[in-house]
Amino acid sequence: MAGSSGSSVLVDMVNIQKSFGKVKVLINVNFQVSDNEIVGLVGDNGAGKSTLIKLITGVHQPDGGDIFFKDKKITIHSVGKSRELGIETVYQERALGEQQTLWRNIFMGREKTNRFGFLRVDEEKAEAEQILRTQMGFTSKAITTDSVVSTLSGGEKQGIAIGRALYFNAELIILDEPVMGLSLSETRKVLDFVLDIKKKDKSAIFISHNIYYVYPVADRFVILDRGKIAGEFLKKNISQDDLVEKMVVLARTGKLS
Ligand SMILES: Nc1ncnc2c1ncn2[C@@H]1O[C@H](COP(=O)(O)OP(=O)(O)O)[C@@H](O)[C@H]1O
Ligand SMILES: [Mg+2]
Repeated sequence: MAGSSGSSVLVDMVNIQKSFGKVKVLINVNFQVSDNEIVGLVGDNGAGKSTLIKLITGVHQPDGGDIFFKDKKITIHSVGKSRELGIETVYQERALGEQQTLWRNIFMGREKTNRFGFLRVDEEKAEAEQILRTQMGFTSKAITTDSVVSTLSGGEKQGIAIGRALYFNAELIILDEPVMGLSLSETRKVLDFVLDIKKKDKSAIFISHNIYYVYPVADRFVILDRGKIAGEFLKKNISQDDLVEKMVVLARTGKLS
């Protein structure tokens, strides 16, 4: 029972193995996400963080081990299958269609059509407006449903992608380095959106190699080091400084103090 508050496990990855060619990228990895839990997945570049979450999102298949979703053993053979289960990934760059309007983006892949297959534009726009103002909390008049995505800031794009996932009831939202390259104020916005996930009773995996971003929003930290789980800590049991110190020692000695 790895959950932060004794809640039930949403995703349970057991004894996962993954190699690319002869390189073992994930070795005997056990990883869980509980209901309404934000897990900070941390570790140096190349540790295997992205590969691990790609096994949940159906981009790659594990070579060994089992994945359980809500206690049921499953095979996630495609990104579509993962989405069907309620798992959404927010990628910094590929989250949204850059040259398209916001309302189009919100319904991308979930278009509303009439019985002849035509897009119900007015309905999508009206609903998008509603989502933007009430669900996502965008109050600025500068952003409308007709805004083209490329005119938004990095943080705003992330916010739209997270808000969209929540609106369509994603149970698990995966954020892979969501604040990389963002300014401090933009980063703050994204972190607020991550906290919305928690408020809406959903779960998230927040990947970063920077503890300072993950610490304030995560309930639990899982440290991946060269393909292995080096350690796990509940936030209530470790301070930010101690966690940083552990990472420094790990990088220097290959061991968690
Ligand atoms: N598709 C792939 N083919 C071959 N090697 C890969 C592939 N994806 C990742 N790797 C390798 O696996 C290791 C872990 O990568 P990755 O999961 O992206 O780490 P992280 O996200 O922690 O930085 C790296 O050595 C990387 O080069
Ligand atoms: Mg990565």
